[in-house]
Amino acid sequence: RGAGTRRLQAGLRAAGRFNAQVMDFIRPHVREGVSTGELDRLVHEYTLDHGHTPACLGYKGYPKTICTSVNEVVCHGIPRDDEILRSGDIVNVDITTIVDGWYGDLSETFLIGDVSDEARHLTQVTFDSLFAGIRACEPHGRVFDIGRAIFEYARARGPDVVQMYQGHGIGRDFHQEPGIPHFPHPSTRKIPLEPGMCFTIEPMLNLGGWKTAPAEADGWTVRTEDGSLSAQFEHTILMTEDGPEILTLTTNGPREGHKF
Ligand code: MF3
Ligand code: CO
Ligand code: CO
Repeated sequence: RGAGTRRLQAGLRAAGRFNAQVMDFIRPHVREGVSTGELDRLVHEYTLDHGHTPACLGYKGYPKTICTSVNEVVCHGIPRDDEILRSGDIVNVDITTIVDGWYGDLSETFLIGDVSDEARHLTQVTFDSLFAGIRACEPHGRVFDIGRAIFEYARARGPDVVQMYQGHGIGRDFHQEPGIPHFPHPSTRKIPLEPGMCFTIEPMLNLGGWKTAPAEADGWTVRTEDGSLSAQFEHTILMTEDGPEILTLTTNGPREGHKF
């Protein structure tokens, strides 16, 4: 193992750790009555105060620091001051910052106040499907194994799996090869999972069908086509000779096996 590999892994680990720390910072603020715009401001300030760089802000023209996707929003919801979280909502908070040139990327779905049984079920299955995908990662295995595991896990429990958006390689750039579909896409059958690879797994599951509407007039917000609820969780993963290492594990957030 050369010095270059060690440097790369140290950079990625530090970035993953800081992004997890940001999630731990924002978690207590994600509650009834707060606006998604306020959550964005808090993360923006926290990131700058620690000397790091928001990755989404200005990325392909994206206007904010985080993505906040409420209820039927699948991903890329833009935080707004007039969007107040209410009891019964579910909201995904997706955080990406750059630490010394390296990217880390994670998201969690939060239950606000009293949510319906079906919202809780969707969130649980989505969280567990992420870990089904992580546990399917084997050194010298295939990207295909990840999508197959997530898809089978989800479909056996009801929710459907979004196909239009996928996980991605990550490192010195935000989105790199390979794409990591959350369903068994034939094109990934031969793509190897080699030690040293770093990528995200970020399944989006819908209570209704898998289809998403095209991005809205704001250029970003993606909703389910049928208006059903959608949830998502994301981790950044480093493949090692010993198996997958989760770089974005939080201190206070849900761990594998958590019951919502
Ligand atoms: N963090 C998202 C992901 O998981 C990407 C957001 S891109 C943005 O890949 F521009 F919308 F911020
Ligand atoms: Co991502
Ligand atoms: Co993300």
